[in-house]
Order: sequence, then C-alpha cells, then structure tokens
Amino acid sequence: MYREDFPILNNDLIYFDNGATTLKPQKVIDAVVDYYSNYTANAHRGDYDNSLKVDMKYEEVRTKVKNLINCDSEKEIIFTSGTTDSLNRIVFGYMKHYLHAGDEVLITKAEHASNVLPWLELEKEIGIKVKYIPLENHLVTIENVKNSITEKTKVISLAHITNVLGDVRPVLEIGKLCRDRHILFVVDGAQSVPHIKVDVKQLNIDFLAFSAHKMLGPTGVGVLYGRYELLEQLQPTIVGGGMNSSFTSTGEVEYKSLPSRLEAGTPNIAGVIGMGAAIDYLMSIGIDTITEYERHLKHYFLEKVKDIPKVIVYNQDVEGGLIAFNIDGVFSQDTAVYLNHYHICVRAGNHCAKILKEDLLVKNTCRISFYFYNTEEEIDKLIEVLRNSEDIFKIVL
Ligand code: ALA
Repeated sequence: MYREDFPILNNDLIYFDNGATTLKPQKVIDAVVDYYSNYTANAHRGDYDNSLKVDMKYEEVRTKVKNLINCDSEKEIIFTSGTTDSLNRIVFGYMKHYLHAGDEVLITKAEHASNVLPWLELEKEIGIKVKYIPLENHLVTIENVKNSITEKTKVISLAHITNVLGDVRPVLEIGKLCRDRHILFVVDGAQSVPHIKVDVKQLNIDFLAFSAHKMLGPTGVGVLYGRYELLEQLQPTIVGGGMNSSFTSTGEVEYKSLPSRLEAGTPNIAGVIGMGAAIDYLMSIGIDTITEYERHLKHYFLEKVKDIPKVIVYNQDVEGGLIAFNIDGVFSQDTAVYLNHYHICVRAGNHCAKILKEDLLVKNTCRISFYFYNTEEEIDKLIEVLRNSEDIFKIVL
C-alpha cells in the first residue's frame, strides 16, 4: 500500500525495522522542506507574517495530536524530543514531587530502558520502590497486575505494545483498575500510537508518551500527554526562554500557563510541522486499516515460516505486528548481517529491553517490525532468504 509515496522505497530495500523508526513519505519531507525553504521563523516570538504563520502551523499540530489521542484540550499536549524525553519529564517533573519514600511503582521486565531507568534513578533519589509485575509466558495478565498492587502502589507504568515481543497489554482493564484504586497510569505509546487507536479517555491513561519518528514523522520530536490537573503540577525540568512571563534580578519568577510552561527554548519547529503532516497522512489511510493490514502481514509470515524448522519464533500469539525470532544456533546479529546482504533490514539484539532476558531466557533476538507499506512479496523474499540460510557463515564471516 502507498509505496509510491515513500522515495526511499525506490531503492532496492526491504525495510522491516519499523519498530526502530519508520520511513518518511514525501508529504512529510515536503512539509519540513517547505518550512525551511519558504517561511522559516521562530515560534511564539515574532510579529511578522512568517512568524505568525509558524505560530499557526505549530499550534495546528497540537490540535491534530489532540484529535489523534482524543484528549480534552490542546493544553494537555506538550511537544518534547521523543518518548524518552516525555517519560523522563513525567518521572522527574511530576513523580519526584508526588511520590514519597516507600511508595511503589509497578513496571515489568519487558519495558524499554526509557520506562525502567528513570524509575530506577528515582528509586535511588527519593527511595520509591520499583516492583516488577510477574509475566505469564512473557505477557502481562490482569490477574498478575491485581496481585501486584498493594496499598503502597501509586503508579503503574507500562508500554502499551512492547518493542521486543509486540504484545498488546490489556490497557483498558489496567486503566479501569488504576482509576478505581487511585493509581496513576503512565503509558509508553511509542509502539502503539503509530499502529493502533489510542484513546486516552477511553483507556483512563493519565500520562502518555510517544515519538513522531515511529509514525512517519521526523526524528527528535514527540509528545507528552498528561491530564490537565496533573500537567498543571508537573514542574519544568528545563527552564529558559519562551516558558516564563517575567523574572527579576531578585529571583521573582512567573511561568506561563500550559502548554508553554513546559516548552522552554526554541522548539523543534520543523519536527512538529513534519509530525503534523505525518498525522494527516496516517489519518488519510485510517489507523484501523493499518492495524488490520499489519496483522495480515504478520499471519502471512507465520504461515510461510512454519515449514522452516530452523527458524524459532518467540511470539507466535501476540497481536502486534512484530516478529521476534532466531535461526537455530545462529547469533541474532549474524542473522541481521546475513539479511542485510539481501538488502533486508531488521533489528537484532536486546532492543533496549535489557532485563527481558531474565524472563525470556534468550538474550538476543532478531526483530521484524511491519508497517503498512510492507508487502507479501517482501515477506516471500525474506522467507526464501531464511530458507536458504545454509551459506550464512560464508556471507557473514
Ligand atoms: N525503541 C526503538 C526500538 O525498539 C529504537 O527499536
């Protein structure tokens, strides 16, 4: 679908690394080039035409994001540099002041580093307790979430879709549990927002983090969503121009209201405008269409790979469009290098989820991550290359 919109696909390339970053359609590239070529100006600082145009374009994207995730107000949308930045701000801008020593935060061993390390830092800083919800066949179950909650549990922070196995967490049920028990629910949407509908109100999400570059947009830009009352309490972790209304030499400082208060310095204007074009593009296809097509591709691959016994798939039954696999007896990075020989791009390693191996008992995997521009023909080629991998070490070494 839509392959002609992606200039990079004119090359001889099979791109199955969409979990790491997605390709960019011409419309996104054009939007970024248009800003740099035709109306470059800073945002929220000028009184001339181009500057006002930038303000309008920049703020329009806030509305597009609001509609994408169905929150109540543009003031609940903060532009950040990406998911990692958003999660760090949630932890160090809000949780550091909200939580106390002994309070418990529930995560899992399958989380990405950006949803583990900030919590571990906060544990060291203020003495919260980071606890891991036990996984059941590597998956989160509602029963295990319920059993992990104590009266000290103040936060549950989970990826909506994990980046190694692609399992879709039962966020609707977890969101309800959190609401009923006054637990804050933080969701890492990096791997979900680009692929499935995410409605923060329906899912009772208190904070959501995601990145533009995993949904056709530019790198270096992302979103922090927070419920208004919570964002109001979130302390800026970066201060400077654009976020204050006044300050004096004697230290009287007044910050602006949301969202400006949390966007110090010149923002990534081109990135935000590019993200707006990416959202328009995704909306023109429809997120449900994307979800369905990716699932089709995944099942197509699983059917075909069945008769190659040396290929071990670790996540047959998950819903997300990721395949985690190894060729029996072959180090995952060697497989990735072998596939690269045929211009097939996959990711190999631990995928920044470095403690999942304690549960999966496999240190490294190869990951195929689909997006809507992948095709059955590309999968056929991958299958053929996997099937004929006897010569792998001749190619890799
Ligand atoms: N977090 C990205 C991935 O999983 C980079 O590949």
